[in-house]
Amino acid sequence: MVPPDKFAVEYQINPWMNGNIDTVDKVKAAQQWLATRDALIQAGADVIVLPSPPVGCPDAVFAANAGLIFKDMYINSKFKHEERQGEEDYFEEYFDAHDYDMLEFPDPNRTLSFEGAGDALFSADRKHLWFGYGWRSSGDYKFKLDEMFENTDVIVRPLKLVDPRWYHLDTAFCPLDTGELLWYPPAFDAHSQMVIESWYEGKDIKVSEEDALRFACNAVSVGKNIVIPHCSDDLFFNLMDRGYGVLTVDMSQFLRSGGACKCLTLEVVE
Ligand code: ARG
Repeated sequence: MVPPDKFAVEYQINPWMNGNIDTVDKVKAAQQWLATRDALIQAGADVIVLPSPPVGCPDAVFAANAGLIFKDMYINSKFKHEERQGEEDYFEEYFDAHDYDMLEFPDPNRTLSFEGAGDALFSADRKHLWFGYGWRSSGDYKFKLDEMFENTDVIVRPLKLVDPRWYHLDTAFCPLDTGELLWYPPAFDAHSQMVIESWYEGKDIKVSEEDALRFACNAVSVGKNIVIPHCSDDLFFNLMDRGYGVLTVDMSQFLRSGGACKCLTLEVVE
């Protein structure tokens, strides 16, 4: 996780940010960040906190976009919007200093973008890397990921996002550690919906629009526990019936920027 001290809404690069410039209550945001960290620890996670991000990086708190980690590999993000490109050095320096293999391909003209674990999520068995594209990450980045995962048994599976409100994969799709999936189908094109349905047959939990609009899919799965920003009664009882422990954390301040619990974390995938 990245400390929330620089967090603010200073520009608008997704629909949730519209009208929210300078409206973040910093004290509340800090409390919500701490509550998320505590819920993750309570759920059973070990949490590492990075040094404070540089001034001018109000979105760096969304650690999911720091890049993608798989074993010793760190794949850096290439942000689509200039507003976030200043975060790249901060994240790269950290992972470089912590002995990760830095995977990168030369793209001086920034023809392709990739927003890390915000758009790339592993299945529970680590055999599939679901890659969301269409808003932030470029569809063609799939071929770069194919190359990077060439010597592993991971298969990259692209999913096309079609609604700007669910602009990162992790806003609408949450593979759970149990092998089940929490997701919001209308965020995806018809073909991607079919791929997801057939892969997770009988193991998917579709959330309602009401839950999806409050970022219920932006949850963190830790074993049988789920840290989630919002949960309707229906979803809550459904998850309870399936044996999950549900920890709800108020994310009102981060939602002003289009993020919630999952966006605040980057998973160290081993
Ligand atoms: N304001 C940030 C942006 O638009 C929010 C990022 C949320 N991160 C995520 N992984 N969904 O880039």
